[in-house]
Amino acid sequence: MIIAQLSDIHADGSNSRFERLDRVLDWLRPLRPDALIVSGDLCEAQFFKTYPAVRQRLETVLCPFFVVPGNVDDHVEMRSAFGDLYGWTSDRPLNVIGGLNGFRVIGIDVTVEDAHHGDALPVLDWLGQELARDQVPTLIFQHQHPFPTGIDNKDRNVCFGGDELAAVIEAAGDTVLGLTCGHVHRPLFTSFAGKQATMAPSVTRANKLRLDGKDSDNIDPPGLMLHHFAEGRLVSHVVGVA
Ligand SMILES: [Fe+2]
Repeated sequence: MIIAQLSDIHADGSNSRFERLDRVLDWLRPLRPDALIVSGDLCEAQFFKTYPAVRQRLETVLCPFFVVPGNVDDHVEMRSAFGDLYGWTSDRPLNVIGGLNGFRVIGIDVTVEDAHHGDALPVLDWLGQELARDQVPTLIFQHQHPFPTGIDNKDRNVCFGGDELAAVIEAAGDTVLGLTCGHVHRPLFTSFAGKQATMAPSVTRANKLRLDGKDSDNIDPPGLMLHHFAEGRLVSHVVGVA
């Protein structure tokens, strides 16, 4: 089973942003993923009318897709563009569950109104209930990272409530295989709550990798992540689409 992950599209109605998205989707389509998840920041602030255009493009992959908001997304516009797919009845939180024949993705909306950081606390009761209801192998996705990245200046806007989120995941035993997010515009791998934790590259321009006060040139192309689930194991791949 292949779960593709896009993140941080930051569509603003301009051709250049859509070109980057189209390049990633063109690469992805022949792989025929079983599902597509989008871990937030679909549209740039002030350009909310582009949500239907983003949805139209996601539909061309011809698989179920699941989205959660990021800090620059507009909940009202996002609900109006995608709400019919997920049964969203209010603007917050925009959580989503995708059952995929022996696998499951759960997207949690950890955004905080008018803030760049996130907070998992408001959705933890819901998440705990869903994890207890059905113990199928699960990948959790969200926008802000609940763990420090170590990248200079990128951990101010972390997802708060990381310890409490980790406790909910740990309480679910083997149900959760991993957690993946976006937000920092750089792919990375670490662990969280004893599980695999990943961050997908951005579709829009990447951030520089700044570690320990040292800088690098920004040469990253738009990219995506592919999570492959087979024989009980989750293996995640990063692809840059030059
Ligand atoms: Fe973000």
